[in-house]
Amino acid sequence: MGRILIAEDEENIREVLLRALQALGHQVVSAADGDAAAELLSGREFDLVITDLRMPGRDGLALLDLVKENTHDTSVMLMTAYGSVENAVAAMKRGADDYLVKPFRLDELEVKVEKIFSERRLNEQNRLLVEQADAAFGRLVGASAAMQGVYRLIEQVALSDATVLITGETGTGKELVAHTLHNLSPQAQGPFITVHCAAYSQNLIESELFGHERGAFTGATAQRKGRLELADHGTLFLDELGEIPLEVQVKLLRFLESRTFERVGGNESLTVKVRVVAATHRDLPQMVGARTFREDLFWRLNVFPIALPPLRERGDDVLALARHFLEKKSQGRTLTLSRFAERLLREYPWPGNVRELQNIIERAVLLSPGDMLRVDAALARPAEETRLGEHNLPRILETVEKRLIREALAQCDGVQAQAAKLLGIQRSTLQYKLQKYDLDAPAGGRG
Ligand SMILES: Nc1ncnc2c1ncn2[C@@H]1O[C@H](COP(=O)(O)OP(=O)(O)OP(=O)(O)O)[C@@H](O)[C@H]1O
Ligand SMILES: [Mg+2]
Repeated sequence: MGRILIAEDEENIREVLLRALQALGHQVVSAADGDAAAELLSGREFDLVITDLRMPGRDGLALLDLVKENTHDTSVMLMTAYGSVENAVAAMKRGADDYLVKPFRLDELEVKVEKIFSERRLNEQNRLLVEQADAAFGRLVGASAAMQGVYRLIEQVALSDATVLITGETGTGKELVAHTLHNLSPQAQGPFITVHCAAYSQNLIESELFGHERGAFTGATAQRKGRLELADHGTLFLDELGEIPLEVQVKLLRFLESRTFERVGGNESLTVKVRVVAATHRDLPQMVGARTFREDLFWRLNVFPIALPPLRERGDDVLALARHFLEKKSQGRTLTLSRFAERLLREYPWPGNVRELQNIIERAVLLSPGDMLRVDAALARPAEETRLGEHNLPRILETVEKRLIREALAQCDGVQAQAAKLLGIQRSTLQYKLQKYDLDAPAGGRG
């Protein structure tokens, strides 16, 4: 039901329109000329304005202009006398939504009004869909070329029901992409069901996936629905797919081919409608070579592959992501990234990718008493955690050096000469290092 304003100088017509539209359940007010209508328009919002073209004072076109200038979602319908249809056409060009030629029948009016309201509902739905899409994509931070490619793939495949295989190192966002695919898909209102393939023994994963009948195995005291059944009309996310045992791979393949399966211990054939999204950090082709992953299953899953780039190949995304996590984790504090911190973030190889960055930022927030984010402190891990291959030697040494310099300065109340002595280096060397590492001398520190 909508809010309608009628502007019509002929009293009879005005009253008939008012009653007819009220009878349809709309909230209707009326004005006897253009100026009175303008007055009403300035005071409240309307969904639809139905106006006569020719009126004393401000005419229908002027009213149309006024509406279009001041609101962007009020619809306008013009009424015009038979013989002046050209005016109506001109009005449509100026933004009117529809027109009625007088004299018109009431059912004609009703149909046109209903059409305008159903278009409005559609537009509203579209707007919501676009907002949802923005929200779904909005969670994926990063504008690097590599990620643009990923976004394009997501857009291409989201609306189809094609099986998607997401690959990428640990922490690159595979699960987040799976959720995004679901949120953008036609089955977004349906369930999103995850199976963590690595978390179960072989027997258990079969019953997780396909469910079981009562008495199917020891301990199966009741019938249980599997995740496939739960995912009906939604998305089934097979996470860590590479870990699925060979015996179960056969059954999964059969399901993917026919969309039918039986519960463990049952013989009733069940059919479901699900979009399958799988993810793995493993090298599946290599597993196929080693015969630990079935080749036929691989091809069945690899219909639409999306490979997520490691964070170290995403350029400045690391800074955008760092700021994103900083905003989320800073709990109301305003912390900034120094140029030094930015450099550290850009240079670090991020073996744990986005998840590691998220953890580091969270840690850095806790380790930063001031308003500068201490990324260096968060990146410096205890020595036993620094494994070769993850860090290179200069970086490890640099980290240790910085920690010792800070400790020395703290012990000597920031007096650089004393700190240098404590460290066993020249004061000029200390000054050089402070500058190089962008370490601020503690407040109150003197030479
Ligand atoms: N582009 C991104 N923008 C914002 N947050 C992200 C992005 N990518 C990943 N994240 C966040 O990083 C964390 C790790 O992502 P996710 O769990 O999706 O990774 P994964 O590839 O599934 O890792 P694993 O292989 O270890 O399971 C999550 O908290 C996720 O929300
Ligand atoms: Mg994951």
